[in-house]
Amino acid sequence: MSQFLPDFLQAYIPSTIQLIYLIATGFFIVGIKRLGSPATARSGNQLAAFGMLMGVAVTLFDQEIVSFEYIIAGVVIGALIGAFAAKKVQMTAMPEMVAVFNGFGGGASALVAWGEFQRLDPGLFETQALVTTGLSILIGSITFTGSFIAFGKLKGFISGGRIALPGQNYINLLLTFVALGLVGWFTVSPELQIVFWSLFGLALLIGIFTVLPIGGADMPVVISLLNSYSGIAASMAGFVLGNNLLIISGALVGAAGLILTNIMCQAMNRSLVNVLFGAFGGGDDPTASLDTGDKAVQKTFADDVAIQCSYASKVVIVPGYGLAVAQAQHSLKEVANLLESKGVDVKYGIHPVAGRMPGHMNVLLAEADVPYDQLYDMDQINSEFKSTDVVLIIGANDVVNPAAKTTPGSPIYGMPILNVDEAKRSIVFKRSMSTGYAGIENALFYSDKNQMFFGDAKKSLQELASSIKELD
Ligand code: TAP
Repeated sequence: MSQFLPDFLQAYIPSTIQLIYLIATGFFIVGIKRLGSPATARSGNQLAAFGMLMGVAVTLFDQEIVSFEYIIAGVVIGALIGAFAAKKVQMTAMPEMVAVFNGFGGGASALVAWGEFQRLDPGLFETQALVTTGLSILIGSITFTGSFIAFGKLKGFISGGRIALPGQNYINLLLTFVALGLVGWFTVSPELQIVFWSLFGLALLIGIFTVLPIGGADMPVVISLLNSYSGIAASMAGFVLGNNLLIISGALVGAAGLILTNIMCQAMNRSLVNVLFGAFGGGDDPTASLDTGDKAVQKTFADDVAIQCSYASKVVIVPGYGLAVAQAQHSLKEVANLLESKGVDVKYGIHPVAGRMPGHMNVLLAEADVPYDQLYDMDQINSEFKSTDVVLIIGANDVVNPAAKTTPGSPIYGMPILNVDEAKRSIVFKRSMSTGYAGIENALFYSDKNQMFFGDAKKSLQELASSIKELD
């Protein structure tokens, strides 16, 4: 496309391209920063997307890389798929979508490296380009197959539990060392096609073997880690192409993914090693110890809940995955408004892994215009439960399960939870006695201070709103 510019401008093209890449990078950084708060997240996303558009557009002028017809076709097809997915995919299915995107990202980086390697004479590659080509193939391919296995597990196409050969962790470790050895061999002997293809094949296998044994509540951590891998693979591909924007944006994704992985591990009180190699130890007994004897749960209904909440001075709402399933956020907001109009102090306690993805609850509540200053992180709200009259637990289960504190051997043992049992009264809104994501029973339901309000969360909250209004 640069050939359409007058001659005197041609000389400025390379430096202008680099300058615009730098500006686009600025948009990414500010965009990511703004994603840190629900109040600024939307504009952060738009800024980062604009930076990406800028990066793609300016690449049109970089004839060295690729002809612009392909870029335009890619932008149009990608934008259509992205817009369709953003509109159609349910919030609750977001982790699956992220998994697929990660997989495509990793696969694309591997293909870019492979394409460059096929296009050019291997003898022309410098050592740095060979190393990054090898790493891009390795990390990109692991991300590709790993992400699609994660997608299959989340979708239920593959069993969500642990699928592993005996000694799987040791096999994986061995394969990883062999793959790194192949990267080294490829760097010194790039002309040996067999080394290149062995590396490719082995990396695809490692992706499958690494993710298959991971299951249950650890899957989001893996998805976040794969997200980081896809960024690192892209960064490597940037080195292969000599494209600064790809190097930087890939590194940003890689770092952000790692930080998120770390935050999620901390929220579950797990180390990353424990998540990835859980088979070396760790509780996985879902039945570990709930002895309720013949004790029955106490049921409650809208009229009773309305009275308890309306005459409370402080109510804390704990949202969970079931709120998202029921799409009950607007009904919840209506209940909160009614209580506030009666002078009740209403707060929301947000567990970092409530729902199915980081920030899930914040996004959901933002949809219903819940003010951000009413949202309290687990650490902030936990000290307040003692002075809380009623906690309304809406479609949450694992994040309030005392087994995390009391039951060694439980899959969630050690995970920090919301201390709802310290409140004077807790009321759980759910449809049945079935378990949450971790598949374990919850002793909270049987507590003397707890009541169960059975039913779909949206319907129950609508009934509750009507009952509160009737009290006026
Ligand atoms: P869960 O423990 O999964 O419990 C959700 C509860 O919602 C279920 O017990 C279910 O019970 C109820 N429910 C489902 N549909 C409902 C509806 N229409 N109306 C009312 N209730 C409904 O959720 P949580 O407490 O939010 O915990 C999250 C879990 O997911 C943790 O184990 C976490 O580790 C895991 N996880 C988190 C993430 C992130 S990063 N947020 C990602 C993946 C997994 P009924 O079927 O009886 O209604």
